[in-house]
Amino acid sequence: MNEILVLGATGSTGRRVTDRLRSAGHQVRPASRRGEVRFDWNDRDTWRPALTGAERLYLMAPDDVPVDPEFVAAAVEAGIRRIVLLSSGGIEVMGDERLMAAERVVRGSGAEWTILRPSWFDQNFDEGVMREAVLAGEVALPLGEARQAFVDAGDVAAVAAAALVEDGHEGRSYEVSGPRALSFGEAVEIIGRASGRTVRYLGSEADYLAVMTGFGMPEAEVRAQIAAFAALRDQGDAEPTGVVRQVTGRPPKSFEEFAKDARWG
Ligand SMILES: NC(=O)c1ccc[n+]([C@@H]2O[C@H](COP(=O)([O-])OP(=O)(O)OC[C@H]3O[C@@H](n4cnc5c(N)ncnc54)[C@H](OP(=O)(O)O)[C@@H]3O)[C@@H](O)[C@H]2O)c1
Repeated sequence: MNEILVLGATGSTGRRVTDRLRSAGHQVRPASRRGEVRFDWNDRDTWRPALTGAERLYLMAPDDVPVDPEFVAAAVEAGIRRIVLLSSGGIEVMGDERLMAAERVVRGSGAEWTILRPSWFDQNFDEGVMREAVLAGEVALPLGEARQAFVDAGDVAAVAAAALVEDGHEGRSYEVSGPRALSFGEAVEIIGRASGRTVRYLGSEADYLAVMTGFGMPEAEVRAQIAAFAALRDQGDAEPTGVVRQVTGRPPKSFEEFAKDARWG
């Protein structure tokens, strides 16, 4: 009993949440389709067995997968008393209905809740969607020179772990950021220095359209993404928050440290 169910446990945050909680001696059930505990958003038969025995839940859904309100209801019915939701910063401005709905569901669940709204993960560059582009030497994203407060997934996990096991985070929404806002151009320059590679940043809408349609993405889909990115870009530079230090007591990892520690190749 009193176990913590971690969804997305093979992913960039869930893996780190699991490691952190386990090394602090907590009982964890790391769940995903390929995880120690099988959990599939698309297979309801996996829900109840994954929930059995758990009282706390790290709730995340991968990109494009909604947080099913029926799962959240089943979780509370099965004995989940506390939920920490991985949402995202900027969801209103980018019109992310999926995560706005997830936040509403969690707030109305009847469980204690904490919502994490992180900035862009550093790990997008070495583990996630941009890894291949970095290795190919060209990252295209239509954000121009707007600065984002990139955050390390380890720091997101540290905040999640604190919210799962400590009191005082209930009913809070945390904008989790790194220590400094950087443009994508500045970020790839830092990666270039740390990795010894040449990485270019293409920040215009025209470049993004050409690159993504070149990969076979339908033009209408790319244009919808461009509109969402334009809304974010038009907000200007992001402001780093003090959440990581406030919640964990230590400063967030810098992008330079991330780039130095990451494996590029
Ligand atoms: N990347 C960013 O910069 C960023 C910033 C803020 C917020 N976010 C949000 O973070 C979330 C992604 O989190 P993450 O980066 O920790 O994960 P991730 O690295 O994208 O990994 C996805 C996880 O979901 C699991 N998964 C995939 N399909 C599944 C399914 N059908 N049922 C159950 N599990 C499934 C995967 O494991 P299996 O393959 O084993 O199932 C994996 O553990 C998204 O909601 C995104 O909006 C991302």
